[in-house]
Amino acid sequence: MYKIQIPATSANLGAGFDALGLALNYYNYVEMEESDRVDIVSADGADIPCDENNLIYVSAKDLFAVCGRKLSGLRLRQTNNIPMARGLGSSSACIIAGLVGANRLLGDPLTKDDLVDLSAQIEGHPDNTAPALLGGIVTAVFDGRKVHWVKQEVFTKLKFVAIIPDFELKTDKARACLPTEISHKDAVFNLSRAALFSASLLTGKFENLRTAVHDKLHQPYRMELIPNCREVFDIAYTHGAYASYISGAGPTVMAIVDEQNTYFAGKMKFSLDNAGLGGWQVHEFKIDNEGTKILNG
Ligand code: HSE
Repeated sequence: MYKIQIPATSANLGAGFDALGLALNYYNYVEMEESDRVDIVSADGADIPCDENNLIYVSAKDLFAVCGRKLSGLRLRQTNNIPMARGLGSSSACIIAGLVGANRLLGDPLTKDDLVDLSAQIEGHPDNTAPALLGGIVTAVFDGRKVHWVKQEVFTKLKFVAIIPDFELKTDKARACLPTEISHKDAVFNLSRAALFSASLLTGKFENLRTAVHDKLHQPYRMELIPNCREVFDIAYTHGAYASYISGAGPTVMAIVDEQNTYFAGKMKFSLDNAGLGGWQVHEFKIDNEGTKILNG
């Protein structure tokens, strides 16, 4: 069996809606081998579809189809550390696992570029799938068929602290609440901040990040779907975060914090509990620069 390690991801990074994302050192694992039937097991008891609707299976089948092959079954064993429907790229991790595993089963006929394109077509946008595959911070434009992307490795003294609530928010619902049109002024507001975010992160100008994560495309609308989101932002800033933003479609809030802010997570949790927000859990991550790996082959 091939054992695949896929990182969690944080998309949008504030203003870079559907365009920016980065990988975190927090992983799902999928063991995969070909079989003449569908045999899917959750190794950690997570509630996953164990039939042909399983997203890893669907993605593997798509890759086989692209390569002119029919998939008649798979044996899959999933370990799902990335919480589902929390804005940390759990669906993308499944898509990438399916594509990378299936590609390996066929002898790696598709290139990395092919996998970036195919995964974006399955997901509909590239800002989780591309960093899940490639690692680092990825800037990506999906033109409907192809993804034009740049991956940059990040070596910073930053921690990415995920503040994860005890409720789910499905991406479909979080996209349905967005406006269909925005003004020219708001477009400029966002594009300038998205550009500022990458440049500031990569050059170490972290004092810009708080301005850079503001946006007018999604966060103001999604905040309405995430009770206490604004308060969580405020607490993160009180404890010295450089920036806080809604991770992906939410509901997780991500705080970008200096490595030297040693007790940030503990202070955050204490304040959340005191504010009656004990359902929010705090986890510290670093950026993963390697992306998805097959650990044993
Ligand atoms: N860019 C996507 C969104 C990420 O915000 O809807 C979540 O899949």
